[in-house]
Amino acid sequence: MAAQNLKKNFGATKSGRAYTRQSNRISLAKRKFYVTTPIYYPNDIPHIGHAYTTIVADVISRWNQLKFGKENVFFLTGTDEHGKKIEQAAKKKDKRPKEFVDELIPKFKNAWQKLNIKYNRFIRTTDKDHEKVVKEILQRVYDNGDIYKGEYEGFYCTGCEAYYTEKDLVDGCCPIHKTKIEKLKEPSYFFRLSKYQDKLLKLYKENPDFISPQHRRKEVINRVKEGLKDLSISRNSFKWGIQLPFDNTHIAYVWFDALFNYVSGVKYLDDKKLFEKFWPADVHLIGKDILWFHAVYWPAFLLSAGISLPKKIFAHGWWTFDKEKISKSRGKVINVDELIAIAGVDSARYFLLRATPFGDDGDFSEKALIERHNNELANKLGNLVSRVAGLIEKNGVTKCENKLIKKLKINKIETLFDNYEFDKVLNEIFAFIDVCNEYIQKKKPWEIKDTKILYELKESILKIAQLLWPFIPETSEKITKQFSAEKIKKGEILFRKIENG
Ligand code: MSP
Repeated sequence: MAAQNLKKNFGATKSGRAYTRQSNRISLAKRKFYVTTPIYYPNDIPHIGHAYTTIVADVISRWNQLKFGKENVFFLTGTDEHGKKIEQAAKKKDKRPKEFVDELIPKFKNAWQKLNIKYNRFIRTTDKDHEKVVKEILQRVYDNGDIYKGEYEGFYCTGCEAYYTEKDLVDGCCPIHKTKIEKLKEPSYFFRLSKYQDKLLKLYKENPDFISPQHRRKEVINRVKEGLKDLSISRNSFKWGIQLPFDNTHIAYVWFDALFNYVSGVKYLDDKKLFEKFWPADVHLIGKDILWFHAVYWPAFLLSAGISLPKKIFAHGWWTFDKEKISKSRGKVINVDELIAIAGVDSARYFLLRATPFGDDGDFSEKALIERHNNELANKLGNLVSRVAGLIEKNGVTKCENKLIKKLKINKIETLFDNYEFDKVLNEIFAFIDVCNEYIQKKKPWEIKDTKILYELKESILKIAQLLWPFIPETSEKITKQFSAEKIKKGEILFRKIENG
């Protein structure tokens, strides 16, 4: 209901002219948005790294709902359940892989629910429709000559589920996990990745926004220019995966399986209408560690399968925890419940989006979160809302032209949002909150009892709530409800200050 209100407000309160201009600019074909997160390995409960991408996807989804309507946005998340890594984790607990993952999935779903994340589908790579898609594509790619049989001899890190060459290793260990690396020698089917080198370079050149941020795009281009080797896309030394339709002694390489979740998630083979409405994805959000799979393998697989390419891959940075790498073994990990316990859901969401530019690495600390909660959410937003509500409760409002809202840089905010500059979006919104707080100080409505000023402030607060809705939905809905009521009342405190900030 509140979202409905917000949606209505979005058109209504924005300067009419700008809005018309904007709607003319968006072509019909663009009036939808499809956002994805990586599908997570369910070998443990979700931590802050998983939560981060999923919260950002939720923010993007909500923002596009405001722009295009709820029914024109699709947000996909889920779990990557096959492969050696999961098989090993299950074995450790003396469970069969499916039984093992079935127990972890509710932990992911609960975490997303607690964080107020509203996805359209939670896909599991063990879902039947997904398995059907992967098999059909494997057959298609095999039939068109892009898959051939050979033997893989080389290194494999199960932690990364990735192949490495000798020169990638650091002292004989995986460059990411720093653990001893497995040497493989087994029959394998290969995908002709080398054939796609020029096509990929052309793609990056013709679509400069395909990979973001730009410095990561350059890294990918340089590496692709060094040459692409054909890729082993099947394993036959273990069983936990999707069988190749043309050789049931092999299972698909887990990344070949996993990447196709993005098309099966919108029902590639089962619902043509849904698929055509949402595909190609507008953005795949990923962490920087899995950019190569998404920027190189994924478009090559799609080109081979004859499916159109996503519009953008955005690789974000990594969070450290108190300046140290997140690591379970060293106790440097923060799970979703711990994150929420610090200052509540909205403050956690706000902090993750505000503290660091999307794309850069960031450092998480409880102290920094509490500081932002106290200084920005409680002091600035909370105080504005409670002061204005209190004054309106006593004095009422008188409708007038809202001149105050002109100080809100709405066009700039839209551009920043669409450029994934969420920290700057929040900066702009909070600059306007400062303007509103100063306006009260200056006009002293409690002395002159000017209820027109209170009307301007009420309308401005409604607009602020709407723009903050993607970030802090629960608070925004509370504010919207409070300020849309016939009789506005002071109401509860939105953010209680936390000591030790
Ligand atoms: N299953 C693959 C993705 C397949 S997508 C077709 C995978 N899963 S994962 O569970 O290991 O990681 C998922 C995401 O979490 C990655 O995008 C990774 O970058 C992200 N993060 C893991 N630790 C992180 C931080 N410390 N900070 C931010 N993101 C981090 O990879």
